[in-house]
Amino acid sequence: MTVAVVGQSVSTARQLLLQGKLVAIPTETVYGLAGNALEPDVVASIFEVKGRPRFDPLIVHVASWEKALTYIQDVPHTAEILARNFWPGPLTLLLPRRPVIPDLVTSGLDRVGLRCPDHPLTRELLEQLPFPLAAPSANPFGYVSPTTAEHVQLRLGRRIPYILDGGPCRVGIESTIVGWEGEQTVVYRLGGVSVEQLESVTGPVVVRTHSSSQPQAPGQLQSHYAPAKAFYLGNIESLLSRLKLRNPGILCFKEAPYPHSNCLVLSPSGDLHEAARNLFGMLRELDHRDVDGVVAEEVPNHGLGRAINDRLRRAAATRP
Ligand code: TXA
Ligand code: MG
Repeated sequence: MTVAVVGQSVSTARQLLLQGKLVAIPTETVYGLAGNALEPDVVASIFEVKGRPRFDPLIVHVASWEKALTYIQDVPHTAEILARNFWPGPLTLLLPRRPVIPDLVTSGLDRVGLRCPDHPLTRELLEQLPFPLAAPSANPFGYVSPTTAEHVQLRLGRRIPYILDGGPCRVGIESTIVGWEGEQTVVYRLGGVSVEQLESVTGPVVVRTHSSSQPQAPGQLQSHYAPAKAFYLGNIESLLSRLKLRNPGILCFKEAPYPHSNCLVLSPSGDLHEAARNLFGMLRELDHRDVDGVVAEEVPNHGLGRAINDRLRRAAATRP
């Protein structure tokens, strides 16, 4: 079976996408599994390759706010202000779609999620394409998101022809998802733009990221970001003494006072940006090591820390 070619050629990526193929693309948050957002057959193949249920909609990636306006209508003023402040960047806006966006992209919802990613290769690609790119994170549904081309290759390499390699992702966790309920700005997924950053521009926002049976953004599903190994979140000392794992993996925030070979540190200097960058790679790394479970602690719950803790809780949520 053939595996994906990994390279840095925007023109190769462009050719394949013009032919209706899927290409993995780098963004500042995580790698995306991209295809022509305006072509229902292509969009259907994204769901298929990712193994994603069709009720979980896709984010559409655009080159600019001006381009975005051709796919949306009745745009609240705050949305434009946010785009002007944070695009290109890790912010997805849920806005009323125009009919040109296929039903499959939004799973039939009235709003489409739009984002202008901040990575030079992908920006160049988007500028050269006559259509926007639908792209979920380039991982099998429910698993940890990929932050390097190698992560994509390992899990999806046999399903796609090309991975555009833009190096390790600069932010490392997915975009923040924002929408409006009346006048109220609502955060549906915590991500690379912090609540504090949003509020400095919009005033108070509501955060509604709890899972429910009818999720507004199924990234809210509790079992998302699930590593394969048993994953426990809490106080590391007490977890270690309670669980009595034979060979524990440990993920700590900044200090590693544990005499275990399988202890990884998100940020030795205690920097939340560095911790976010390392999070998914370290979850994968511990998943691949010879450990019989992983124990982890939360990080300080402000700025990017809220999004990191959200991912850690979801990773742990599949365990009792
Ligand atoms: O940073 C990111 O957002 C990355 C990169 C590749 O751009 N993409 C990403 O896509 O994380 P995905 O598909 O893994 O997560 C997108 C989330 C899902 O939880 C989906 O349900 C939600 O966004 N979403 C997308 N469109 C939506 C819509 N129209 N209404 C509600 N939720 C939506
Ligand atoms: Mg995802």
